[in-house]
Amino acid sequence: MNHQSYKNILICGGCGFMGSNFVRFLHNKYPSYKIFNLDLLTYAGNPENLDDLAGSERYEFIRGDIGDKLLVENLFAKHGFEIVINFAAESHVDRSIVNAFQFIKTNIQGAYILLEAVRQHKIPRFVYISTDEIYGDIPKGIKTSEEYPLNPSNPYAASKASADLIVQSYIRTHKLPAVILRSSNNYGPYQYPEKLNSLVITNVLDGKKIPIHGSGVHVRSWIHVQDFCAALDMVMHRAADGKIYNISGEEKTNLEIINLIAEALDKDPAQYVEFVNDRPGADLRYSPDHSRIAKDLGWERRYHYTETLANLVDWYIKNRGWWIKIKQKSDFLDHYDKQRRGIYDL
Ligand SMILES: NC(=O)c1ccc[n+]([C@@H]2O[C@H](COP(=O)([O-])OP(=O)(O)OC[C@H]3O[C@@H](n4cnc5c(N)ncnc54)[C@H](O)[C@@H]3O)[C@@H](O)[C@H]2O)c1
Repeated sequence: MNHQSYKNILICGGCGFMGSNFVRFLHNKYPSYKIFNLDLLTYAGNPENLDDLAGSERYEFIRGDIGDKLLVENLFAKHGFEIVINFAAESHVDRSIVNAFQFIKTNIQGAYILLEAVRQHKIPRFVYISTDEIYGDIPKGIKTSEEYPLNPSNPYAASKASADLIVQSYIRTHKLPAVILRSSNNYGPYQYPEKLNSLVITNVLDGKKIPIHGSGVHVRSWIHVQDFCAALDMVMHRAADGKIYNISGEEKTNLEIINLIAEALDKDPAQYVEFVNDRPGADLRYSPDHSRIAKDLGWERRYHYTETLANLVDWYIKNRGWWIKIKQKSDFLDHYDKQRRGIYDL
């Protein structure tokens, strides 16, 4: 099957952070593609993320649940998608610690419903967006290739690992033409302000404290969402069926991120940092190895954290209205207050 171009694309979860960045990327880069976006609009889904595409004949939003079998069935029968890309998920580790139910439902059962529909409708390509968190805590000096054992530490990571394995089982058992892209932590515009970068920037802009888990030495591999989009572009068009690819970013501790952001905003980080209890089961380090995608598809990171930070901060300054509304509505951010007092609501 030639995956070089598509007419009808289904993106699931396209109103979230990464999905909306990718829908815009595709829409702008490929003028002949029609993009359907199936999104439930959970607390993390925001149609305003794609306001600039409103009115485009090449973009259609459908509100719905990937776990709704009948809806998925009808959509697949109606539109004859040539590719399905699944971003839809519950994505916040802290929330999965407090209550994992929706993570199991959407991230595992929802992904399964999509997979079955892809199989039955013989869709030529399915892309599953996975994460480096499925490898679990990685000691210093080790990098995780795609063959590294999966050892997830928290319910979010376990739900993603489960779906990743189910996709692999469909590739092997049903010869399903799927590919898996395992990304490290993304940063960029439109990120829900409970995730580290957007939380830190918006709290500093708001004069609020920044809750730092444990001693703040946890290492994440930070990748700009535009680099993620470039990788997914390559994977959806050029990856061989059944391939799994890691992509990675720059390793930085949470404290380093906070210091860099405070510096970019000309503030003293010490004024904002507030150490809170660590996450139960917290992973100290992720470090995926992206040499396979570099070799097969020629992907390399283009953006550097410190070089893009001024632009990123500027985006959150200019789009204050976007995040203020979200923060006012959020029922979860006060969760950190509980956590600070040692109550994790387990
Ligand atoms: N953010 C990261 O750093 C990162 C890194 C690696 C992998 N991932 C994965 O990438 C994907 C996107 O992450 P994100 O940070 O953009 O997430 P997000 O929380 O910002 O967005 C998730 C989107 O999925 C939608 N959604 C949730 N449940 C749904 C359901 N049942 N049916 C349809 N839509 C539903 C939400 O409304 C939202 O628009 C997730 O699968 C996540 O596991 C994220």
